[in-house]
Amino acid sequence: MHDPRDVFGLDGRVACVTGAASGIGSAVAEVLAGAGARVVLGDLDAAGAEENAAALRDAGGQAIAHAVDVAKREQVDALIARATSEWGGLDILCNVAGVPADGPLAELSDDEFERVVGINVKGTLFGCQAAIAAMSQRGGGSIINVASGAIDLAVPNYGLYAMTKAAITQLSQTLAVEVGGQGIRVNVIAPGVTLTNFTKRHLKNEDGSLNPERYEGFVDAMKAGSPLGMVGEPIDQAWLVLYLASDASRFCTGQIWRANGGATIPR
Ligand SMILES: NC(=O)c1ccc[n+]([C@@H]2O[C@H](COP(=O)([O-])OP(=O)(O)OC[C@H]3O[C@@H](n4cnc5c(N)ncnc54)[C@H](O)[C@@H]3O)[C@@H](O)[C@H]2O)c1
Repeated sequence: MHDPRDVFGLDGRVACVTGAASGIGSAVAEVLAGAGARVVLGDLDAAGAEENAAALRDAGGQAIAHAVDVAKREQVDALIARATSEWGGLDILCNVAGVPADGPLAELSDDEFERVVGINVKGTLFGCQAAIAAMSQRGGGSIINVASGAIDLAVPNYGLYAMTKAAITQLSQTLAVEVGGQGIRVNVIAPGVTLTNFTKRHLKNEDGSLNPERYEGFVDAMKAGSPLGMVGEPIDQAWLVLYLASDASRFCTGQIWRANGGATIPR
């Protein structure tokens, strides 16, 4: 008999999650810890990562926080080294940290290009490289990278962000082919609109408070794009990540996974 609790369980595994102070990364860390993994929560927001790690420990999980700017290779190397020094190796890496970028491509500056590519693309690549070195010593592992529904659509003023997420997708598929022989799986999720600080950035008043009318208008517009009439929550991505991190997905690599309410079905 197959026991789902064994196959989906992560007892004894070591996981590292970037962007774990907020939104999708926070939910991913919670679900992986709940499934039994020991989790390193990495984020630029060190206080937020520590707050989430402490909440996971209070709930009986094993979790530590580690400050990291994913755009800096030496800091990403130190993040992965923290997991291996603390718990003896690395089995799962979720590269969730990422930033949005707004504005027309025709006006894109070099500085903004470097900033966003530095975090979204280089940050993901640095994480994969450090994780592959650690996982290959352990005989395998699972890497989950985060793209976006933006890879499926051409949305005005969102070109730079979409370019970085398309790059993450290609990076993930190529890596899957390169490292499959070492037992390392690499998958990429392309989340649909998910209510987090990321999506709230356009919906705030000048003083930083949330504008309820704009917020509700946004949520309604996003729901209208989904055949299910839904907008996503971080936990919707975290359940998918649990599948990809676990042995339940042992036959899956190099694929794009879309929890997006069906919003990108060609119609
Ligand atoms: N929210 C959505 O609708 C949506 C949709 C598709 C894809 N995504 C992607 O999901 C990921 C998480 O987004 P979210 O919605 O949870 O956003 P969020 O803003 O709630 O969380 C992002 C986290 O990343 C951290 N971060 C930013 N720059 C960093 C850096 N240089 N180094 C380390 N940490 C850094 C932030 O401090 C924050 O804690 C992003 O990659 C985003 O592109 C989000």
